[in-house]
Amino acid sequence: MAKAETVAGKVPRHVAIIMDGNGRWAHQHNLPRLGGHEAGRKSVKKVVQAAIAHGVRYLTLYAFSVENWQRPRDEVQGLMGLLRLVLREELAEMGKEGVRLRAIGRLQDLPEAVREELASAIEKTKANTKLDLILALSYGSRVEITEAAKALAREAKSGRLDAETIGEETLAQHLYTRDLPDPDLLIRTSGEMRISNFMLWQISYAEIHVTPVLWPDFGKEAFAAALADYARRDRRFGAI
Ligand code: IPE
Ligand code: IPE
Ligand code: MG
Repeated sequence: MAKAETVAGKVPRHVAIIMDGNGRWAHQHNLPRLGGHEAGRKSVKKVVQAAIAHGVRYLTLYAFSVENWQRPRDEVQGLMGLLRLVLREELAEMGKEGVRLRAIGRLQDLPEAVREELASAIEKTKANTKLDLILALSYGSRVEITEAAKALAREAKSGRLDAETIGEETLAQHLYTRDLPDPDLLIRTSGEMRISNFMLWQISYAEIHVTPVLWPDFGKEAFAAALADYARRDRRFGAI
């Protein structure tokens, strides 16, 4: 069933991207690491436009992981400042193009100024229906699943939930992504063959496309190439 649906629509409904390689790009261009993050900003814009053009309905961008807090203070501060700028400046424009902004992750960890900017962008774009742009911020998949387990345990303990009725859907309903379809295509830029704690539950059957292109060099062509790669895949979901 799932297979027929996917084959009929060769464009992935949900694309998730691990945007990696900003530091390496900066190094190649003799810039400080933050220069790479700044350069990555235009890729976000290009990819959002490309996703709309291809008819992708959901785009999730892994922008900052729970592990990324361990980076040097300057880099973390620079990234948070950049995030604020993107939310303020790019989102206004994206909003006009029909983008609805959403966010997943431990948003409570973000500096207040970022949280405010985020809340405002989410509120302003909530009626848009062309593309849901989901930013993964202070996101960690294991912490997401752990929090879901904790919530289920609490509900069971209080008697609101019968533990015997817990199924996959019950758990899925307690994740940040409760009202999102699973990603069909996972893209990782800059060649690293790893998942880095990203959507472990949700990517169970995602097709994976790893490209050597560094995130600041990733644009419309690279996005189209990933979609073309996806269209050639035979998704089986365990069947034959
Ligand atoms: C991705 O680029 C951006 C974030 C993780 C915030 P990196 O900063 O990880 O770049 P590399 O991996 O050092 O090249
Ligand atoms: C993954 O990239 C996180 C984001 C893209 C936000 P990292 O650069 O942090 O991942 P590792 O350290 O290479 O696994
Ligand atoms: Mg990296």
